[in-house]
Amino acid sequence: MKAHQPIGVFDSGLGGLTVLREIRALLPGEDLLYVADSGHAPYGDKPTAMIEARAFAITELLLARGAKAIVIACNTATGAAARLLRTRYPIPLIAMEPAVKPAVERTRSGVVGVLATRQTLASHNFSVLLKRVGSGAEVLLQPCPGLVECVEGGDLDGERTRALLTGYLDRLLARGADTLVLGCTHYPYLTPLIQEIAGPGVQVLDSGAAVARQVQRRLSEAGLLADSERLGEERFWTSGDPADMHGLMRRLWGNEVLLRHLGEDTA
Ligand code: SIN
Repeated sequence: MKAHQPIGVFDSGLGGLTVLREIRALLPGEDLLYVADSGHAPYGDKPTAMIEARAFAITELLLARGAKAIVIACNTATGAAARLLRTRYPIPLIAMEPAVKPAVERTRSGVVGVLATRQTLASHNFSVLLKRVGSGAEVLLQPCPGLVECVEGGDLDGERTRALLTGYLDRLLARGADTLVLGCTHYPYLTPLIQEIAGPGVQVLDSGAAVARQVQRRLSEAGLLADSERLGEERFWTSGDPADMHGLMRRLWGNEVLLRHLGEDTA
């Protein structure tokens, strides 16, 4: 592996862009490859074996396109496949970890709410994390079916999203949660709405910035950090229909994107 090679990042869809943004801000010299597996989104209610198979297939594609490191910018895929990917690929592999530790440190009421997909909350990774860092507070788990679909559909504050979120948050707030952990990379797009519903006394935490710092640390340890004086580029692929996705991707990324189908050659 060489420092000038790109970093490969993937998610079930557009949520991983919230992580990509943090990596871009911290590491402006890196070239970034992003795969949105929109043809198979959402992962949240899919069988583990299928998510594992997608994670392996996408990792292979990113490595074939020269990736020097892989970022699993998806909590559900982390829970399903990170351990196996780590055993197979001897490269820096960075995965998501919901911000339970900082939440437990910061809560004043002693009650933390975690919003994530069913798959993430049921994963081995997550139960290990809870055992490791969750004992200092009451940690309430809230599966949020439907929210990933809202974000993938571009509905960040419409009626359906508002109704779903209100239902999920009411339960947590009624039990005294004052700190909310976003355990899915799609949810940071909903932070303004979550904050509006929950009120200013509630803190909302996600782990995008922490993952970007972890990418920096791992690349630095491996001697693989790109020259920070250069300006890195991004390239985007989807397993869905690029024509359908282009507008929303551009809106969420905040800039023009060159989006190709995953099967297309990419030189
Ligand atoms: C999903 O595709 O259902 C969720 C993505 C995530 O957990 O970050």
